[in-house]
Amino acid sequence: YLETVPLSIEVNGTKHNLNIEPRTTLLDLLREQLQLTGTKKGCDHGQCGACTVHVNGTRILSCLSLASMQQNAQVTTIEGLSKGKKLHPMQEAFIKHDGFQCGYCTPGQIMSGIACIKEGHANSREEISEYMSGNICRCGAYHNIVDAITEVKEGGKKI
Ligand code: FES
Repeated sequence: YLETVPLSIEVNGTKHNLNIEPRTTLLDLLREQLQLTGTKKGCDHGQCGACTVHVNGTRILSCLSLASMQQNAQVTTIEGLSKGKKLHPMQEAFIKHDGFQCGYCTPGQIMSGIACIKEGHANSREEISEYMSGNICRCGAYHNIVDAITEVKEGGKKI
């Protein structure tokens, strides 16, 4: 017998009424209960950024957040960015600039990159690097990631 708690949460525009174990992280909820496996588990300890999602418009590390703390929250994951077959401008820019190699960190990089611009922290390459420093890329695609974010910022599209 495992004690569960009720959770109402909206993910990528879909409302869910769930019963969860209190210790479930938001990351495990997304991946294991909602089958949204685009959000990656790298370290599970807040050190790599692979699990970055947006909660109520702000980027967070979903491995460090208990799902039960996100009552009535609006969550956006990498799966929620595209509009039908139309990719989000940040997704298009990552493809154009080869902002990845193995791709494991990419969903987190893209979610963080969007937030970085929205926070107003994408005014120079140095600033982008600083505010993207929580997202580790073991392949070392950093230069291209900064290129992609810079292009989206300078393109001025609504993101
Ligand atoms: Fe959350 Fe690494 S999996 S920061």
